[in-house]
Amino acid sequence: MPELVLPTSSVRESFLEAMDEFVAEGVEMSQTAAWIDRYAPAWTDPGAFEAFVEAVRADAHEESPRPEWHVPCTTLWWVDGSDYLGRIAIRHRLNDFLLEVGGHIGYDVRPTRRREGHATAMLRAALPWAGELGIDPALVTCDVDNHGSVRVIESAGGVLEDVRGVKRRYWVPTS
Ligand SMILES: CC(C)(COP(=O)(O)OP(=O)(O)OC[C@H]1O[C@@H](n2cnc3c(N)ncnc32)[C@H](O)[C@@H]1OP(=O)(O)O)[C@@H](O)C(=O)NCCC(=O)NCCS
Repeated sequence: MPELVLPTSSVRESFLEAMDEFVAEGVEMSQTAAWIDRYAPAWTDPGAFEAFVEAVRADAHEESPRPEWHVPCTTLWWVDGSDYLGRIAIRHRLNDFLLEVGGHIGYDVRPTRRREGHATAMLRAALPWAGELGIDPALVTCDVDNHGSVRVIESAGGVLEDVRGVKRRYWVPTS
């Protein structure tokens, strides 16, 4: 049974294969894309991978250094044993950009494991974590033409507030 866990080196091999899949897909403009840009050259080394994992975990702490326009973020990985399936990011609060565009929660599933229900299950499993962080409801957005993500958000009880530009903006109860 897949489960949400804090980032861990125990899925390193599978995670690296998944990142190759995202690169082949041409991933951009996401947390995964940012990880690849920043860490990929080094993270085949186990020590560098551990440092990457620690950095991602540390981003949940208020006091960790981050760009001025970023907010603390809890990242969880959706794993099945040693298999990495996807990730979900819970931004602890909204800034102007997140309120308009990004929302509280972002996620992706590795390309070879899509359409198996993982995003639906992963978002459902992440909502209590968001609730624990005091987020209720959570803003979750997606592109108007991202039909899979629309289904995922609506299955989680998302209530559409509006469409701004190319983004559909939903409020999803966490409790
Ligand atoms: C969007 C994404 C997260 C969906 O992940 P997934 O694990 O394939 O989603 P699920 O298997 O839970 O599918 C949920 C529903 O969407 C449907 N769906 C999934 N992908 C779809 C697609 N490309 N087109 C149409 N419907 C799709 C599924 O059939 C399912 O429908 P159902 O609820 O009626 O059964 C995944 O495609 C992805 O990672 N895309 C790239 C990153 C991204 O878009 N992230 C979301 C940003 S808002």
